[in-house]
Amino acid sequence: MQPLNLNDFEVFARDKISESAYDYFRGGADDEITLLENSSAYKNIFLKYRVLRDVSNVDTSASFLGIKLSMPVLIAPTAFHKLAHPEGEIAVSKAASSEGIIMILSTLSNSDMEDVVNENDKMVMFQLYVYKDREITRELIQRAESAGMKAIVLTVDTPYIGKREKDIRNRFTLPEHLSVKNLLPVSKDKFPVVDNSGLAGYVSSHLDPSLSWKDIDWIKSVSKLPLVIKGIGCSEDALLSVENGADGIVVSNHGGRQLDTCRATIDVLPEIAESVSDKIEILIDGGIRKGTDVIKALALGAKAVLIGRPVIWGLAYDGEKGVKDVLNILRNEITLAMALCGVDKVKNINNELIAK
Ligand SMILES: Cc1cc2nc3c(=O)[nH]c(=O)nc-3n(C[C@H](O)[C@H](O)[C@H](O)COP(=O)(O)O)c2cc1C
Repeated sequence: MQPLNLNDFEVFARDKISESAYDYFRGGADDEITLLENSSAYKNIFLKYRVLRDVSNVDTSASFLGIKLSMPVLIAPTAFHKLAHPEGEIAVSKAASSEGIIMILSTLSNSDMEDVVNENDKMVMFQLYVYKDREITRELIQRAESAGMKAIVLTVDTPYIGKREKDIRNRFTLPEHLSVKNLLPVSKDKFPVVDNSGLAGYVSSHLDPSLSWKDIDWIKSVSKLPLVIKGIGCSEDALLSVENGADGIVVSNHGGRQLDTCRATIDVLPEIAESVSDKIEILIDGGIRKGTDVIKALALGAKAVLIGRPVIWGLAYDGEKGVKDVLNILRNEITLAMALCGVDKVKNINNELIAK
């Protein structure tokens, strides 16, 4: 049997990885209400379609921060790809490159950032967690810039890690042969499993919960790269991102893995888009699984979307090819949905497509 849609990949991937890795990739925080809501909220939004508009040539190309994309999709930063497949981030990078989209590489990758960029025509952005040790942070940013990354994507929704119950039960940790490759000074640490998951131990030992808007200037001073702030959940913080000089934001609740019972990202997107209008480029992630979800996100104000878990499922299922399959299925769904909506170019996707 072949996977026909993005959800199929989860089913196919499940048999290929350990139960604790599956739980880590799939899970959300607490009762997983936001995790579920992120995708189910799309089901409550209905499209309005137009006919007789010559859709014989649908063009899915798009852009973000001036970088051309073959479709309005980027790969969300997710940690520890080698738990899914031995080629890990390298396989994802190759797939993103051959499909003409950007990969955002997690700070917590199992592969060196330079190797990931080298596989990718340099269509990689670096997701940054800020370490208590600012020298480690500075080194990460400067390495990302020297490696040829296109932007720093600063994740701001993780001062502490959300309560992920499965990881606690499994005492989730990295196996002996894997490490956090980008962080030589702290990568050799065993994740300290105390009364929680190893990841929670790692985050509380190393990441800086005192991070605040005051630190944005410092981050900007360390590199010339554009700055995208990831983890924005309301218009107040979107406006502060503009005021603090960010070039883009990602409307994100970390795929329902941080604060449970916060609203689905697609439900907060319209008010955020209205408050910042054209002052900043907006990305969104969380629960995007269908071509029609992508159309809805763009119609409600996003420039492009990020997908997280489906990429991991594709990777676990069949390495680089599995990730390409995920991207191609999504591309075909976007193309078909655009045609059936009566739209031939991404720039023509707008609020008119949302049924009121
Ligand atoms: C297994 C896993 C690991 C993640 N690791 C990171 C990370 O290292 N940095 C980060 O900014 N976001 C991380 N995220 C959040 C994703 O970037 C993204 O916000 C989320 O997965 C989007 O939701 P989706 O999986 O429903 O597409 C992770 C998400 C998952 C599922």
